[in-house]
Amino acid sequence: MTPGGYEYLRGMLHEKSGLALTGDKQYLIESRLIPVARRHGHAGLDELVRAARNPGSEALRADIVEAMTTNETFFFRDKTPFEHFDNLILPALLKARSNRRRLRIWCAAASTGQEPYSLAMMLDQNAHKLAGWNIEILATDISIEVLEKAKAGLYTQFEVQRGLPINYLMKYFKQVGDMWQIAPTIRQKVKFAPFNLLADYAALGSFDVVFCRNVLIYFDTETKRDVLARMAGSLAPDGYLLLGAAETMLGVSERFEGVAGYRGVHALKGQGDQAAAAPARQQPFQAEAGAGRLRAV
Ligand SMILES: C[S@@+](CC[C@H](N)C(=O)[O-])C[C@H]1O[C@@H](n2cnc3c(N)ncnc32)[C@H](O)[C@@H]1O
Repeated sequence: MTPGGYEYLRGMLHEKSGLALTGDKQYLIESRLIPVARRHGHAGLDELVRAARNPGSEALRADIVEAMTTNETFFFRDKTPFEHFDNLILPALLKARSNRRRLRIWCAAASTGQEPYSLAMMLDQNAHKLAGWNIEILATDISIEVLEKAKAGLYTQFEVQRGLPINYLMKYFKQVGDMWQIAPTIRQKVKFAPFNLLADYAALGSFDVVFCRNVLIYFDTETKRDVLARMAGSLAPDGYLLLGAAETMLGVSERFEGVAGYRGVHALKGQGDQAAAAPARQQPFQAEAGAGRLRAV
């Protein structure tokens, strides 16, 4: 591919999705975009770029953006955010919202659905505390393809073996041919919709909990700062934001502070006391080796 073509793709991807291609990522572009070129009937990447530069090629540019997303995810990824949700966030919010009895949760880069479905299953496990509560889980992603898979709730044997406790598999999934489908009762708890994190958040309303995990790592500092500023505006004053295990606010945003003792959990600055006043930490849950069952340790 010509250097000009590479620079065009780099600029376009940054503008449309926030993706920051640092250094020489020609190999990544080639491996991800040659199939797109073929699908659209172009002999190679230079022709694909020529077509994408055409002002009328919005759909092709969207396909390119989509192909460049990294959609890696799995059930109960990193485990501790879900323990923190169960031990800190849910009890604190059930107390704080006891009059309104309504909670809104947003998975802001939900990929193929494992993250919001993990939350939905956890909430189902807490059903006895949630009678009469209206709990909304909104799961969004820039990629239409991953959202289609998420909505179908169909996973391979490999996918259900990654992070999903065996008792959850037995309780919430049904085998369909060589795939596993999540129960309609859990699927109905999650609403999936396309949403670009670079867009205006106003129409989404305010959330009590935002999971924004393993997406900011693909953005440059300025884009991260911008996204976090919008997230701050979308979070209830006493709400919680969860980032991925490798992600930090340090040097990126001054709007949030970490909740002491709960790595990866952030509150809006000045709300730390509220978070600190949350129920005393309970025993964490851990997937049982082999059986893969969640149990208190
Ligand atoms: C690595 S996955 C993370 C999935 C899940 N949050 C997790 O931690 O397991 C990152 C997701 O971010 C999505 N994404 C990338 N750029 C985005 C943007 N600008 N707006 C919304 N989603 C985006 C990708 O399509 C991808 O599905």
